[in-house]
Amino acid sequence: MQSFIVNGGRRLNGSLRVQGSKNSALPILAATLLVKGKSVIHNVPDLSDIRCTLGILKNLGCSVSRESGTVYVDSSCASGYEIPESLMREMRSSVVFLGAIIGSHGKAVISTPGGCEIGLRPIDLHLYAMKRLGVEVNEGSGRLCCSTSGLEGGKITLSFPSVGATENAVLVATTAKGITTIVNCAREPEISDLCEFLNKCGARISGAGESIITVEGVNALHNAEHSVICDRIVASTYLVAGAVSGGDVELLNTEPHHLNSVLPLLEEAGCDIRVKCKSIRIKATGRLNRIDKIITQPYPGFPTDSQALFTTLASVAEGTSVIVENIFESRFKHVPELVRMGAKIRTEGRVAVVEGVRRLYGAEVQAQDLRGGAALVLAGICADGTTEVLNTEFTDRGYEDFENCLCSLNADVYRKVKKDGAIKKKNC
Ligand code: UD1
Repeated sequence: MQSFIVNGGRRLNGSLRVQGSKNSALPILAATLLVKGKSVIHNVPDLSDIRCTLGILKNLGCSVSRESGTVYVDSSCASGYEIPESLMREMRSSVVFLGAIIGSHGKAVISTPGGCEIGLRPIDLHLYAMKRLGVEVNEGSGRLCCSTSGLEGGKITLSFPSVGATENAVLVATTAKGITTIVNCAREPEISDLCEFLNKCGARISGAGESIITVEGVNALHNAEHSVICDRIVASTYLVAGAVSGGDVELLNTEPHHLNSVLPLLEEAGCDIRVKCKSIRIKATGRLNRIDKIITQPYPGFPTDSQALFTTLASVAEGTSVIVENIFESRFKHVPELVRMGAKIRTEGRVAVVEGVRRLYGAEVQAQDLRGGAALVLAGICADGTTEVLNTEFTDRGYEDFENCLCSLNADVYRKVKKDGAIKKKNC
């Protein structure tokens, strides 16, 4: 069992290079299955979710290797079309393999992913997209068996702009016969990154980043080299860390325009934000102001993945902030833990009302999902005393070298590893 020990009260300062995007790397790695030859993917973060993805590729028969941030995938001999339940269980987002496996083999067998920490997370839209292009889906005993006698382009109208369903629709349409239009698709930068990689491989996809994507099916994809975009949610995490600690932090290797819905809220909280082409600097002095409304929405709206981080910010701001979570139904699990640290938050359904307090205090708290875990570490950074955040496995899914990145910005965070009854201090 591992936990983060955070000694609060230090102002963060310095600069940090932001890691590659997990949510871009996952579908791009799945997409390498459609490629005949060796794909070279740069700027891939070293995370447990990525290790699980590479494990799935290997299990399907790909040859996979990694040299620091670069991953090489050769799918030429990948004949597998089934993802074992144990690997599906490890990472719910492995459902993104569905479109790529069907696209390369005409069939796929996966287990039904089921719900997760932040909600029920159905996959009806993924399956609807597959069916629209001629895939037969049989569900039973927790397994999903998909097969097609030939993928045919068609019109896919999503009732909600789901990120994963859009990715699966693009992946399955890439090698389908004819033209596919995906209406009301997700517009997240990670979708554009996936389409850019596929187009480098010879796909014909237009409209990525807009609400209608058109895919003209091609027979096969050739190999290509691609660098994953930087992680906008990780960037927002370190920006909030700078804000709540009254610090001065510069993030390098970022795409500021991916944070167009986030940066104005940090300014509303009273932070000074300076943006250059690929960097963002945040300076915070004095007590933060409340943020009137934080409303999560599909991109380009405020990201649900940054909501927990801003709950921490609102907890120490002056005045009352209102947070509305519109994307996932169970995404306030960090709230009772923040309350243990002295935050004053009331939730009702999808709404949280946060009455800012002057100081939080250290406590033992439990991470229950990825971003909620990060939010608790940030709360520890601005709290009085020591905070122990249990369950580092959640943050390990999405943050590369989290504690060392924070330490490089002057935070006092280390990982406590409990093994055979003995407690060891790791890092820093
Ligand atoms: C992705 C991101 C996740 C982010 C989310 C929303 C990855 C690996 N994960 O998740 O970090 O929080 O986008 O920005 O990229 N829904 C359905 N039926 C479906 C699919 C989705 O009802 O078939 C619902 C979900 O339950 C949820 C909403 O749509 O309420 C949004 O989900 P979706 O956009 O699909 O998120 P993910 O792709 O799972």
